[in-house]
Amino acid sequence: MKICSIGAGYVGGPTMVVIAEQCPEIEVEVTDVNEERIAAWNSEKLPVFEPGLDEIVKKVRGKNLTFSTDIDEAIRTSDIIFLAVNTPTKTYGDGAGKASDLTYIESAVRRIAEVATGDKIIVEKSTLPVRTAEKIRRILATNRHGCNFEILSNPEFMAEGTAVEDLRHPDRILIGGDETESGQKAVQTLVDVYAHWVPREKILTQNVWSSELSKLASNAFLAQKISSINALSVLCEHSGADVDEIARSVGADSRIGPKFLKSSVGFGGSCFKKDVLNLIYLCEYAGLTEVARYWQQVIDMNEYQKHRFARFIREKLFGSLRNKKIAIFGFAFKKDTNDTRETPAITVCQDLLEEQAKLAIYDPKVPEETVRRDLRPYPADLITITQTPYEAAEEAHAIVILTEWDEFIALDYEKIFKNMQQPAFVFDGRNLLDLNRLRTIGFEAYGIGKPRA
Ligand code: NAD
Ligand code: UGA
Repeated sequence: MKICSIGAGYVGGPTMVVIAEQCPEIEVEVTDVNEERIAAWNSEKLPVFEPGLDEIVKKVRGKNLTFSTDIDEAIRTSDIIFLAVNTPTKTYGDGAGKASDLTYIESAVRRIAEVATGDKIIVEKSTLPVRTAEKIRRILATNRHGCNFEILSNPEFMAEGTAVEDLRHPDRILIGGDETESGQKAVQTLVDVYAHWVPREKILTQNVWSSELSKLASNAFLAQKISSINALSVLCEHSGADVDEIARSVGADSRIGPKFLKSSVGFGGSCFKKDVLNLIYLCEYAGLTEVARYWQQVIDMNEYQKHRFARFIREKLFGSLRNKKIAIFGFAFKKDTNDTRETPAITVCQDLLEEQAKLAIYDPKVPEETVRRDLRPYPADLITITQTPYEAAEEAHAIVILTEWDEFIALDYEKIFKNMQQPAFVFDGRNLLDLNRLRTIGFEAYGIGKPRA
């Protein structure tokens, strides 16, 4: 059997790498139109940073795993084709700012329709609006070789930073297929692939529409949990309650659960905002105004959280940031990834730059050019990228923690304090540090939803 993916990004890459690792007898090919990305997958420096990924790639690349830009050949020779292209929020026309842009999916599917000469199973791995399989089916029907295509929905639930662990030990694998005989046969084929390493009871099968919508629903629920705890963080700050204690007591109820209750400067990443917006769009399209409004609030709360954090920093720094050096610790949207898509750091930094603060930014994995690209068009002389957090904090008025990198916990804050402007502030947007310890050193230290000293 041969499997290929169209799309070698954060999902297509790691997903295929783990399939190749777990199914040595299956040939796996990862393809992309982006030559630079494929070259990076074939090099020593992979385009995606994920703990544990390098080791697996080294083990299977060149054996049953290859990376290539020859998409047509991969389509022709594969039995199963995973669509793992990006589905960003539309920026133009009807639905701009909310609906998913399906341009990339459509062009990948058109390519399959054009070049396939045999029967194939097409797997929706990208996150898609419910009923996309219908559109895919119509495009595939233009194939001139009379091929039979079965379309399955198999959304991905891995999170960045823990992709390898999530892919090796998923909570569940979801496969949606047609209830026809050939549809069910295709479902079984994909079940058999995952059954190489995933216990059978964790492989859920359902109809295509449920599977497509389950993915949007899952991300909406997760994002909603964060917005709920963040909404409470504001009340904590006004009442002396501690948001982490609230999360501990609320999360101890097994009906709620302890995960995804970490209050923060806001959620980031390429999917939560995009997928909730897509859900809102689908509701509006169906005329379900109240439902759309319900989910809109999840997004609004997140925007509020990011901006109110930046506003708080300005207020505490005596109302003026102009020419003040501020050290930014962390730029990625979460720890253990080099991804900055929709990172709250962009919004917070932009707000601080609007006030003409001078930012010294340190992140252990995000390259300088990415930070500079993300903060364009703010003047380059307001932004310095440093090689260490110590350098960033030198002579700064404040440290702002925007990513929960482990290395920030163990820094020598006594040393940092001595080299900062006084009074020296810490604004912990991830509730990573022990604020009382920082206060003992002399810092004015603030967290999200934390009692004020
Ligand atoms: P990405 O931007 O990192 O990768 C997508 C890749 O597809 C790019 O390399 C792009 O060049 C390629 N591509 C686009 N059109 C193509 C075409 N016609 N032919 C060949 N290659 C093409 O995106 P991603 O983060 O991997 O996300 C992909 C999908 O998976 C999205 O729908 C996303 O919502 C979903 N998803 C992402 C995550 C995540 O953690 N990033 C998790 C679950 C699901
Ligand atoms: C998220 C989901 O967790 C995955 O299941 C899903 O597959 C993926 O989106 C997707 O569809 O792309 P991801 O965005 O990679 O994964 O990372 P998360 O761990 O969910 O974190 C998202 C954001 O929420 C980060 O900025 C993180 O810091 C923040 N977060 C997370 C919190 O602020 N508090 C929490 O308790 C958890």
